[in-house]
Formats: sequence, C-alpha cells, structure tokens
Amino acid sequence: MKIDQQATNWQDKSMKEIIGHIHDNHHVTTKEILEELNFLAFKILKVHYKDHGEQLLKVHRLVGLMKTELEAHLVKEEEDLFPMIMTYEVSGDAELLEAIGKFIQGTEAEHKLISDLFEELKLVTNDFRPPAGACNAYRKTFNFMDVLDKDICRHFNLESNVLFTRLNQ
Ligand SMILES: [Fe+2]
Ligand SMILES: [Fe+2]
Repeated sequence: MKIDQQATNWQDKSMKEIIGHIHDNHHVTTKEILEELNFLAFKILKVHYKDHGEQLLKVHRLVGLMKTELEAHLVKEEEDLFPMIMTYEVSGDAELLEAIGKFIQGTEAEHKLISDLFEELKLVTNDFRPPAGACNAYRKTFNFMDVLDKDICRHFNLESNVLFTRLNQ
C-alpha cells in the first residue's frame, strides 16, 4: 500500500489537485488498512483472549468504531464535500461556499472524534507497542494502527489546514 510522505508545495496546486492527492493517497490507503486491521483485531482477540483479553477487547472495540466512523467520513467527503469544493472552484458561487462552510463544521467534528479514538487506542496499546513475545499477527496489528495513525494525521492536516483554509482565501 502507498504511504504518502513526500513534501509538496500546496500553494502551487489547485483545490482539485489537492483533492485528487488526498483521495489517491490517503483515502485509498485508509480503506486498505482498515480492512486488514478489522480482520486482524478479531483474529488476535480470538487467539490471545486468555492472555491479553483485557487489552484486545478494547482494541477490537476501538478498531470497529474507527472503521465505522472513518468509512462514513470518507464517503461523505468523496460524495458530497469534495464535489462541492470542485464545483465552487470553477463557479465561485457565494451560496455554495456558505453550504460548504456548514458542511465542513460536521467534517471537523468527525476529524476530532476520529482523532480522539486514535488517542484512546494509543493509551490502550501503550503507544502501539505490542507486549513482549507477541506473535506476528499481534505485532502486525499494532504496526498497522501506528501507520494508520500517522497517515490520518497528515491526511486530516492536509484537509483542515490546507484545503479548507484555501476556501477562505
Ligand atoms: Fe479525507
Ligand atoms: Fe476528512
């Protein structure tokens, strides 16, 4: 899977280009990781319940919540918000900009909710550090959560502080 780590000068890019980048890198990657994580969180819960049930029940629950929230969030952006922004970039319509502003309040609330889930997950997993002697699947699960956490930080930052800021310039 593709992890976006390059530095880009976003000021030179159109909003359509920024949206294309967010979709092709972050949205696609997030969906891939979520599928794997969801599968793994259930798998390690079943295998290691006796020894690590307390931690793994929490991980399983948080991963499930995160998957539900993130999938809905991505679809709302792809189907509603991003098309509205791309239309606005062409038309400059003031009413549309107002509607986008209202929509973004919900988007930002979702960013906060999802970021809070990651914070909770970090607490539960000791900053994504698996217990000593953890098996491959256990370590892979924790690594995926760590990779997704970092990717989500870049992704949400790009939306909130680059794309949404551009609308008010
Ligand atoms: Fe997004
Ligand atoms: Fe977002």
